[in-house]
Amino acid sequence: MAFSSQHGGNIIEAAAAIGVDASSLTDFSANINPLGMPDSLKMAITENLALAERYPDVEYRALHQALADHHKVPTEWVLAGNGETELIFNLVQQLAPRKALLLTPGFAEYRRALARVGCEIVDFPLSEQQGWQPDESLLSALTPDLDCLFLCTPNNPTGLLLDNVLLLAIAQRCQENNIALIVDEAFMDFLPDEPGLIPQLASFPQLYVLRSLTKFFAIAGLRLGYLVSADTTTVGRIRQLREPWTINAFAALAGEVILNDRAYIDASYRWLRAEQPRLFNGLNLLHGITVWPPRANYIFLRCDVDGLELQRALLEEHILIRHCANYPGLDARYYRVAIKSAADNDKLLEALKRVLSNKAGSGE
Ligand SMILES: Cc1ncc(COP(=O)(O)O)c(C=O)c1O
Repeated sequence: MAFSSQHGGNIIEAAAAIGVDASSLTDFSANINPLGMPDSLKMAITENLALAERYPDVEYRALHQALADHHKVPTEWVLAGNGETELIFNLVQQLAPRKALLLTPGFAEYRRALARVGCEIVDFPLSEQQGWQPDESLLSALTPDLDCLFLCTPNNPTGLLLDNVLLLAIAQRCQENNIALIVDEAFMDFLPDEPGLIPQLASFPQLYVLRSLTKFFAIAGLRLGYLVSADTTTVGRIRQLREPWTINAFAALAGEVILNDRAYIDASYRWLRAEQPRLFNGLNLLHGITVWPPRANYIFLRCDVDGLELQRALLEEHILIRHCANYPGLDARYYRVAIKSAADNDKLLEALKRVLSNKAGSGE
């Protein structure tokens, strides 16, 4: 039996399944920065509790200015949302595509947002033989009958970054064929040397970049994400038509504070630089486990031990990992684990060793 059907982070359901309290589980299923919410934000929130008593600025002027300054783009290009997820749905609703291409495996919410507007969905399967990466054949799949393509880089669940040359060729091809290109960069902040596509927006008026602040800044419960695009007509229509005040005052404040917290950002880079290779190498040494080199703060793996339900076995060790059986294009052998603190990563490696050796010992 597997848990967390759509997303990671469902520790309540998982804990209930083995009859323990959720607080006793270590959650490797949601990819959240283990440094936790920045102290600068905790302080800003406690000093501004009175913000809860009034409506936030319905235009979120200070927030949008902070995001625009951060990316050095005009404010009209930027629209913040109650997590990136809200903007996936807003954008799809506004663009109302009739036929979209989705790479599989990929994040589930694109499909849900497209289904909501009755869009036909064509899958472009990524294969393990090709290292879960698209190649030039994706360019030929971008035919004029399509009007929307979603890409995610680094991709969830594989953790792989798209090749920059291919990405620009895709953007070019989408422009020629009038295909809206939506690029999800929810995890891009974890890659200090990768600017992503925001610097290219001026050249591609039908390119939409989505960003999330919930993972890197550990504010998944507070919620904040944003859309950046040079298509000011679409951005403006969403701004005009959506429900008011969907971003709470503290999330809006977060956007004004956290991007300037250099100490937190640098500490996060230091943590990931140490723990990303360490956890990868640790997993790579385990017999029966295949791992793909991660670019962000999570690792995609395959477990080839017959009869071992890895998620269930680790849950007995009070560790929750994300099974990937419900991603189109994957099956029950695939899993995703977050990269956490050194101590938690050691806990995962030790638990995995126990689970794998128990299975080997059982003679199955
Ligand atoms: C690839 C990807 N995009 C977007 C999101 C949603 O981010 P947010 O929490 O900002 O809504 C997630 C969350 O897991 C994700 O994995």
